[in-house]
Amino acid sequence: MTTESTLTLDTKHVMDERLGEHKLTQADLQALAPKVAEILKEIAGERAKGEHRFRELPHERPQVDEIKRIVAERRDAIENLIVLGIGGSALGNIALQSALNPLTYNLLSKAERRGPRLFVMDNVDPAYFEAVMHFVEQDGWANTLVNVISKSGETAETSAQFLIVRDRLIKALDEAKGKDHILVTTDLSKGTMREIVDAQGYRSLVVPDGVGGRFSVLSPVGLLSAAFCGIDIDSLLDGAAAMDKPVSDPNPMTNPAALMAMIYYLYDQRGKNIHVMMPYSQQLRDLADWFRQLYAESLGKIRPSDGKCVGPTPVKALGVTDQHSQVQLYREGPNDKVFTFLEVEAFECDSIIPLAFEGVEAMEYLGRSKNGTLAGLLAAEKRATELALLVSKRPSLTVRFPEVKARTVGEFIYMYEAMIPIMGKLYGINPYDQPAVELGKVLTFHFMGRHGYEKPAIDL
Ligand code: PA5
Repeated sequence: MTTESTLTLDTKHVMDERLGEHKLTQADLQALAPKVAEILKEIAGERAKGEHRFRELPHERPQVDEIKRIVAERRDAIENLIVLGIGGSALGNIALQSALNPLTYNLLSKAERRGPRLFVMDNVDPAYFEAVMHFVEQDGWANTLVNVISKSGETAETSAQFLIVRDRLIKALDEAKGKDHILVTTDLSKGTMREIVDAQGYRSLVVPDGVGGRFSVLSPVGLLSAAFCGIDIDSLLDGAAAMDKPVSDPNPMTNPAALMAMIYYLYDQRGKNIHVMMPYSQQLRDLADWFRQLYAESLGKIRPSDGKCVGPTPVKALGVTDQHSQVQLYREGPNDKVFTFLEVEAFECDSIIPLAFEGVEAMEYLGRSKNGTLAGLLAAEKRATELALLVSKRPSLTVRFPEVKARTVGEFIYMYEAMIPIMGKLYGINPYDQPAVELGKVLTFHFMGRHGYEKPAIDL
């Protein structure tokens, strides 16, 4: 097994002459590089002192053995795994599942699936919730395992879902047996959920100390559901561990996380504050969603030093689908965006486009083409779109996956996570907090009648 990272970063379309004044030059990057070199040094020092804990996850692998034990004990007996969580306690699970299992996974027979069906309930929309409940109840609660995930143990959405599901489990199975179908992933010692776990005796896993929700996918938060559904979590962590070397490179020009941070930051400073991630892969679609949260919640902040609101706006798009939805705007709308394409070199299968309707050129060329497969068409469309953007002076970069496998997904996750504290230091903000989320939470407590929140935090 290689210990090298295998993703490649292609930045030629941020340096291309055709971008005119929208091009970044080596000189632009070189001018920022000394500051980023300092930042990398600072991060390495902080890491040595125990900060940036997410960086250690693929090395320390906390509770991976326990996860494997739970999966070995329970996988065959359950039909459905429900994850109750939101934000960083859900988006990674969803991204891993769609990247690394067939997109039709839940529709497959038990023999074809590698584990239970997976439902990640990251919303409290009752129609959605009850639709999943209805489906699961047909198989029976005895065949269902519920993984409640909340680092804080205080999140209203997750708590409400937990209360409903627990009630139904008790009614269906009785209190003692119901307990066996709940597994809680939460902080080791803090929060209401931990108190409940201790009081009720639920089986539990730990969100490692110092690892925030949106940085927790490579911890028990994301790994349990992945392992249940047959995803190779060792390879996922191997990929992340392999990426540690390049993203620890002290030279910002050769460190991929630092290079991306510089490109995104420089463009943001030049008014390109919308950062679009556009995978040309259906499987990678939800990784762009995961990225969106990581970027938005980490970087969108009021800078303490001058009170300025900073942070680029992440947008997710999907190739080729959004060529027929967004590309008109992307080429002729405001030139305020930088695009990141995710490209896959080798899909695990391909579909040949048959030659038919000879003489009808609008059909025939597809089957005649030397690229006449769906992967060939997808690659041609990605190339066409990046060039079309280029002639409209819209910069883009490409993260290239040799293939979509647990290993490469692990590399990708770690590279983007490692980029965030670098960007945080460039912006002068703390990437690990989310103070602006608080007001909405306490007002929700007020509207829901929680004691201690009788007086609304603002004038209503
Ligand atoms: O990244 C974060 O910290 C947040 O998005 C949280 O994951 C989200 O708010 C859910 O929090 P918790 O896991 O405490 O229920």
